[in-house]
Amino acid sequence: MYVLGVETSCDETSVSIVKDGSIVLANEVLSQIDIHKDYGGVVPEIASREHVKGITYVFDQAMKKAGIKYQDLGLIAVTKGPGLIGSLLIGVNAAKVISLNYDIPIVGVHHIAGHIYANHIEHPMEFPLLALVVSGGHTELVLMKEHYSFEKLGETQDDAVGEAYDKIARVLGLAYPGGPIVDKLAHEGKDVFDFPRPMIDSDDFNFSFSGLKSKVINTHHNLKQRQLEIIPEDFCASFQEAVTDVLVSKTIKAKTIYKVKQIIVAGGVAANSGLRTKLKNKITDVPVYFPRMNYCTDNAAMIAVAGYFQYLTNKKTDDLMLNGHSRLNLEG
Ligand code: KG4
Ligand code: ZN
Repeated sequence: MYVLGVETSCDETSVSIVKDGSIVLANEVLSQIDIHKDYGGVVPEIASREHVKGITYVFDQAMKKAGIKYQDLGLIAVTKGPGLIGSLLIGVNAAKVISLNYDIPIVGVHHIAGHIYANHIEHPMEFPLLALVVSGGHTELVLMKEHYSFEKLGETQDDAVGEAYDKIARVLGLAYPGGPIVDKLAHEGKDVFDFPRPMIDSDDFNFSFSGLKSKVINTHHNLKQRQLEIIPEDFCASFQEAVTDVLVSKTIKAKTIYKVKQIIVAGGVAANSGLRTKLKNKITDVPVYFPRMNYCTDNAAMIAVAGYFQYLTNKKTDDLMLNGHSRLNLEG
């Protein structure tokens, strides 16, 4: 079955064609990063306008690359939330037009389900599995006992990990999005600050990154005020060590309690090399999988894969009342 995926929840306009839930025939992504960079973050109003400008082109490119016709599609899967409402609506409406015009069933997909299913493209899921979801808007540990069943074990109580990366990068004067740059600089510095590892010993699977973020920012201000040397690489290394220690420690705790068969990492921060290395080094008894780099950040292939399994599992489709939702619960 050919599934058309559509993703416009933030600042990437993406359309993908995936065959039988894992064979990616096309995954076109039009990124707006260069436009939002000037503002130090995503400007929602600009994001929606850019989606409007780019969406038809991205649809055309994806169809051309896949070499199929709309009539060949078995399903359309579109991100319905969470995300920027103005951006979501562009993708949802474009998907509904194709669904109506060619009479193809449509399903609205949760963005985080998409990030989780990005792993299935190269590593078939085995249950029970544990998903560590780390993105610009989410930080959570999710248990899956079967396809399309999500049990949230814990989540951040304040900032998402990607958000903390981006804020620290801003204070250090680095470009947006800061996560990949902090990751790169971290390898050139040393963990000299020994920042706190928030909630590392708590009994639950929740996280908190805003205190750590404030500690990093205050330390930076303090050095600046005293006109002492600031080595951005050391800030990046110290922050990354603290964050990854917490993420890895909680993942190991959940793995042991729930006796999972595999661990998968999902979301933009799954691209982080420090996290990849630490998880791989510390967990050797079960496989730890990460999506390929281009499937870590927002893309429509992951939405097509998730939509396929959602359709097979729930046997339900949406109708033309399908809408975008800025907030949406993964557990349904
Ligand atoms: O999943 P994503 O593309 O968008 C959301 O759904 O939020 O994640 C984007 C986030 C940004 O905060 C970005 O800075 C972060 O992922 N990110 C990274 C890395 N690559 C992307 N954070 C740390 N290290 C990286 N290598
Ligand atoms: Zn995302």
